[in-house]
Amino acid sequence: MTVKTILTEPNKILRQISLTVKKVEKEEQILMDDMLETMYDAKGIGLAAIQIGIPKRIIVMDISKDNEKNNPMYFVNPIIKNRNLNLSKYLEGCLSLPDQFAEVDRPSTCEVEYLDYNGNKKILKTDGLFATCIQHEMDHLEGILFIDHLSKLKKSMIIKKLSKIKNKEDRVVL
Ligand code: NI
Repeated sequence: MTVKTILTEPNKILRQISLTVKKVEKEEQILMDDMLETMYDAKGIGLAAIQIGIPKRIIVMDISKDNEKNNPMYFVNPIIKNRNLNLSKYLEGCLSLPDQFAEVDRPSTCEVEYLDYNGNKKILKTDGLFATCIQHEMDHLEGILFIDHLSKLKKSMIIKKLSKIKNKEDRVVL
């Protein structure tokens, strides 16, 4: 397992639409292992393949609490169904938007149909943090970031902050 570099906004790759995986093979499993390692290393609870620059419809998640055993989940070609009309609000962050947080409304429950690590078809009913997280990660597959759900003003403020940080980092290279 290898820890990969997580791309951060602004970056055009993050805006790509990810492609359907034809078959879950060893290559995809290695990718999922690397994604999980990368996510744990960055202390995140979800990661989409595009965040490490791979435009495949693959997500890893682990929403277990700190005092619980790790519970990695793998989603290949996920599809969201039966979104609840009721919304719930969470303060969201994203590994591709370091140190930025904002409240986002999303359907409070939904179902997700996907292939698991071994390529078996699964369907899960989700609610709470699980529902929010899977919808946030699914957005990544469409090139959407959580800031796209915010007002133009809030969004541009966050992008400005991140651009400044990026420029600073460039200047420090000696
Ligand atoms: Ni994210």
